[in-house]
Amino acid sequence: MRSYLEGIVEELKRLKREGVQTVSVSEAALTKLRERAGILAGAEGAVSTKPGTRGASAGAAPAAGDTPAPAPEKLPELPQENSGSASPGPAKRRPHRQPAVAPIPSIPPEIELPEGEKRLRWEALREQVLNCPVCREHVRAGCKVVFGVGNLDATLFFVGEAPGAEEEKKGEPFVGPAGALLDRMIAAMGSSREEVYIGNIMNWRPETPSMSGNRPPTPEEMAFCLPYLRAQIEIVQPRILVALGATAVNGLLGPDPKRRMGKIRGQWHEFSGIPMMITYHPSYVLRYASNRVKRTVWEDLLLVMERAGIEISEKQRRFFLPSTR
Ligand code: URA
Repeated sequence: MRSYLEGIVEELKRLKREGVQTVSVSEAALTKLRERAGILAGAEGAVSTKPGTRGASAGAAPAAGDTPAPAPEKLPELPQENSGSASPGPAKRRPHRQPAVAPIPSIPPEIELPEGEKRLRWEALREQVLNCPVCREHVRAGCKVVFGVGNLDATLFFVGEAPGAEEEKKGEPFVGPAGALLDRMIAAMGSSREEVYIGNIMNWRPETPSMSGNRPPTPEEMAFCLPYLRAQIEIVQPRILVALGATAVNGLLGPDPKRRMGKIRGQWHEFSGIPMMITYHPSYVLRYASNRVKRTVWEDLLLVMERAGIEISEKQRRFFLPSTR
């Protein structure tokens, strides 16, 4: 039960970091949550925002961009229980399964790269990351350390958060549902996965108490992995970095509790002297699959295309805008 609730709290924290202010919870989901938490049906929950739903505070609202005010968003249900992680009920509480998480060294790794061409240096870095003892120690049994992929001469370098379940199995970033959407976003820009470079803040999937679900990396984990990402950026020397979501921003710029995705997205920042656009993570777009959210992200990507000198057609300019006909 504890890990079920922790999963929900983690998800709410994650949404807050991504700029979500309120989350609608259906009565059915609330009832299920109460059952799991061992609270009697009928107990008072959060503040009701509209009939049949309850509102849970999660932070600032995402920016609306230039789009007309949309119809009320359909927000998702609370996360589903993961088999094996939820307790059967208060009477039969299972012991909390806390994985033995090895501590993260406070001294970041030293990167040693040979002189020479990009490919040689990148391969040496990849070897170092795949054999990094700290990374290997944190990877789940049977899973892989995940290193960046793509074109070493890429103009665009996308930075995500951390591998998920599919990524740690395959040892490649963004190969799950968020990756499929990222591929479509890149294709909409007139490019392809093979033409860009894709990396993550983290080289491993952060452990969770139940070893299922995802959680954002801690500042210590991000600080440990950052030199590896920085080295990839320095090898590729892209024209533009695209930070996908709050964790990418926190990992690259350092954590700042006052930072709000709704405020900073669509703006240019800089990392290692390279212009960096901030936008929402594809998972956020999947979660709130409204045209408003898609258009918001698309406007950020249009700015990237403009700065990269990528030609933009009229059709591309109008993606996700209401039809005028
Ligand atoms: N989300 C990320 O941020 N990175 C991945 O590699 C997969 C999902």
